[in-house]
Amino acid sequence: MTGSLPSDRRRFLAAGAAVLGGAASARLWLPDTARAAENALPDGVFSLGVASGDPLPDGVVLWTRLAPDPLNGGGMPDATVPVQWEVAEDERFRKVVRRGIALARTAYGHSVHVDVRGLRAGRTYWYRFRTGGQLSRAGRTRTAPAATSSGKNLRVALASCQNWQNGYFTPYADMLAQDPDVVVFVGDYIYESAPSATAVRRHEGTGEPYSLTQYRNRYAQYRSDPDLAEMHASAPFVVTFDDHEVDNDFAGEIPQDPAKQPHDAFVSRLTAAYQAYYEHMPVRATAVPNGPHIRMHRRLEFGRLVRLNVLDTRQFRSDQATSQAGAQDPKLTMLGAQQKRWLLDGLHGSPARWNLIASQIMMAETDLQIGEGKLWFYDAWDGYQAERNVLLDEFKSVRNPVVLSGDRHLTMISDLKEDYAKADSAVVGAEFVGTSISSNGDQDHAAFHKEWDPRMPDNPHWKVIDAHRGYHLFDIRRDRIDAQVRVVDTVLQPKSAPSTLATLRVDAGRPGVKLV
Ligand SMILES: [Fe+2]
Repeated sequence: MTGSLPSDRRRFLAAGAAVLGGAASARLWLPDTARAAENALPDGVFSLGVASGDPLPDGVVLWTRLAPDPLNGGGMPDATVPVQWEVAEDERFRKVVRRGIALARTAYGHSVHVDVRGLRAGRTYWYRFRTGGQLSRAGRTRTAPAATSSGKNLRVALASCQNWQNGYFTPYADMLAQDPDVVVFVGDYIYESAPSATAVRRHEGTGEPYSLTQYRNRYAQYRSDPDLAEMHASAPFVVTFDDHEVDNDFAGEIPQDPAKQPHDAFVSRLTAAYQAYYEHMPVRATAVPNGPHIRMHRRLEFGRLVRLNVLDTRQFRSDQATSQAGAQDPKLTMLGAQQKRWLLDGLHGSPARWNLIASQIMMAETDLQIGEGKLWFYDAWDGYQAERNVLLDEFKSVRNPVVLSGDRHLTMISDLKEDYAKADSAVVGAEFVGTSISSNGDQDHAAFHKEWDPRMPDNPHWKVIDAHRGYHLFDIRRDRIDAQVRVVDTVLQPKSAPSTLATLRVDAGRPGVKLV
């Protein structure tokens, strides 16, 4: 992160001040122009729905964005608009426990982020917004368990990679039925690719997004998927981004194709992309971007049962290696020195039974070379091996580390090993690579296994590899994690049939994962 403290503080206040104490005092405080703007709003301001995220024992972030014309910049007047919010203990809002007024500002795309506090731990709440006589749909959310709670069961869904053009986001319909306490989304929430005439559903616009308005339109289109909208309205999300929220395979301020995107232009693109990301995600004001910088790595606690470390593996990484030797260069970093220290401190000092790490990209080895020798992907942790191996070594003294990843558009469930160069190396943890919601669309499963099964002997740490679309579901208890790979038969239709492809188990105190 860069930026002086005063400017950080200004940004924080600008976004944080959007939440006022109570309706009565806010009415006195609001300028006449805000009241006038509220009274002249177009219809349909709540077209993007509602969401919640980053639950705490006493609070949660509530989100909406006013956008009566969502695919054309939003369609809001250039004015600050007051938005009332309320949180209730019941679905019918008979017992409202918190309410207030937030300000939807032009500078933040008329997004609303309310950091509600004063709630009770481990409880379900309902929330909604109102402005200019228009009422949003109601959303449901859940606070985290009390800090001292040992926790009986936490149900977590792991999702990633939802390419609009590859299919409908039907796995969320099943996720909704499974009723998770929290959804962890590890990247590729949007794809920046240009509209394709042959796609199942076509991206809006005429090309890749570069400007803030273009990214806003892309997020707005994704939010129009009914299953995604319903899931956001039904459980809190904990999100982090990967590359496609900006540009395929970017690293820090280096684009995929530096010859085509000069540095200054790419910094402008990053600035637009991060701003649109913040505007559309249910995250705290700590994630308000500072130009081309955004703070996404953070920790969430679920009593003494789970500590969730959310990583940022894009912003601080070295440029990708281009050779096998380069992938082993000890100078390459994935996390940056500061984030790496923060992660290790959080792992070793954790009071939690389970230490989850949400890493956008796969940590276990993928050896693509059948037989003698190795061949790696350079964008994943395999391309940053020295740092990966340091973490794996540290995992030996961490209580029950489990890595949750995405990116691959495959289910890959693996033992994490101390050193993949040694066949008899110790198992130090488990990793779940949670396939994709829709990216890559429906696969030819016979062709997939014909290509990938011959690599199984080279990767004996893999327990399951599969190419169905879906997500992973975890029931986390003190003594074990029961995991289900939930898949759908198709994403090429708006409705699909879900099933459990595999069930697995991680036992506390016994590193690794096993098929049940
Ligand atoms: Fe992806």
